[in-house]
Amino acid sequence: MNKYQALFVILYAFANCVFSAAYAQNTSAVALPSYTSSQAQQGEILYQQTCIACHGTNLDNGSFAPPITGDLFYGVWGGRSVAELLQYIKESMPPGSPEKLSDSASLELVSYMFQEHGIPAGQQALSLDSNTQLLPIPASGLVVIETIEIPPPPTTVANPLDNITTVTDDTLSAPPAADWLMWRRTYDSQGYSPVNQISRNNVKDLQMVWSWTMPAGRNITTPLVRDGVMFMYGAGSNVYAFDAQTGDVLWRYQLALQPRPFGPRAISIYKETIILTTDLGQVIALAIKTGEVVWNSLVLKSEESEESDGSSAFPIYFSAGTLVADGKVLVSTSTAERFEKNFIAALDANTGEEIWRFYTVESPGGERDTWNRASEDQRQGAGMYVPASYDPELKLILLAPATHTTRQYCVNPNTARPAMMGCTQILHLLLI
Ligand code: HEC
Repeated sequence: MNKYQALFVILYAFANCVFSAAYAQNTSAVALPSYTSSQAQQGEILYQQTCIACHGTNLDNGSFAPPITGDLFYGVWGGRSVAELLQYIKESMPPGSPEKLSDSASLELVSYMFQEHGIPAGQQALSLDSNTQLLPIPASGLVVIETIEIPPPPTTVANPLDNITTVTDDTLSAPPAADWLMWRRTYDSQGYSPVNQISRNNVKDLQMVWSWTMPAGRNITTPLVRDGVMFMYGAGSNVYAFDAQTGDVLWRYQLALQPRPFGPRAISIYKETIILTTDLGQVIALAIKTGEVVWNSLVLKSEESEESDGSSAFPIYFSAGTLVADGKVLVSTSTAERFEKNFIAALDANTGEEIWRFYTVESPGGERDTWNRASEDQRQGAGMYVPASYDPELKLILLAPATHTTRQYCVNPNTARPAMMGCTQILHLLLI
């Protein structure tokens, strides 16, 4: 017998197992306790007076007490003695009762329970003397299974997070072929992978290896891959770390809130963290090996993001997500349809501290006067829906803000028809 073999006595009860039938097959397992039918009759009357309200008409259908027949009950009481059950009922039932049940009442109640369990009545009454024996449990439930072979433990799968390597500024500037470390993979946003195992010839043979159901909502974020771990953002500010080969979830971060209809296009990886924007206006960094929050910076405060009627927050939100460049996290906002000033901000990637902020809509009286003296309420939009690109040589980020977002101010002057495009298309170039 090897060490994975053992002798087991397995006790189990089948649902609705009827004792008498079971005992007919295997009477040697447990000697039946004896009780008389008149004891059971008295017990039934008592049960109806004092127990039925909690334990129910069938002993297992009460709203206020556990079943006292069937699998659950046998599971609790199997292997214990009749005396224990008598004692328990006498001492504890009904709970909180000032008066204890008499010995004869307890014997009658247990006789009634035996009758309901399917144990046949006999000549000899259930007495305090006869009760040291074990409670009968379903005969089919006491089975000696010979030798069971327990399969060897599964080989432990290595956790790719154990060996995940640090992502530095240099790594981001020249990502290894097998990794995908930012929105469009490289700072110049080529979106091109040099890996070549999948080709035009074999693409038709691709098959699903694993799948995972993402939370309902806006799941448009590009997954990141580092050293065989895939980091994925899911609607409602969830982040998953998957073993990219098996689909095993290595950790999960979840912000407990109702998913909003927002969600970033990009999350970032930097040093030992995963950095992302949340639906609550925060930028957070999670420990790459555990998903625990390393820093949390509230960048979009609710007062600057309430609806104009003051109702639900965040019509201005992070749509682009994050880009890490030169040790800074770049975030930018975009707006729902109302006057609001969108901005681009840079945070220290190690601490989350905000370093600078640039508003894409200039205020009236600003020195560049890019809005032709338009009044304040006509200045809006210019949100960033798409993540930035970055030139590490020039230390320059490139961002393309959108147009106006409220149609009434975005009118084609020739036709006077509202148009969403073409009013304020500015490319912002910012020195990081
Ligand atoms: C007020 C409701 C109530 C009444 C009345 C009541 N019980 Fe109970 N009974 C309970 C509750 C609750 C438990 C579970 C107690 C616990 O787990 O600590 C219980 C547990 C039991 C158990 C043990 C069940 C198990 O799974 O371990 C037995 C046997 C039992 N009651 C029998 C009776 C009998 C017989 C009567 C009538 C004399 C009775 N009860 C009356 C509420 C009640």
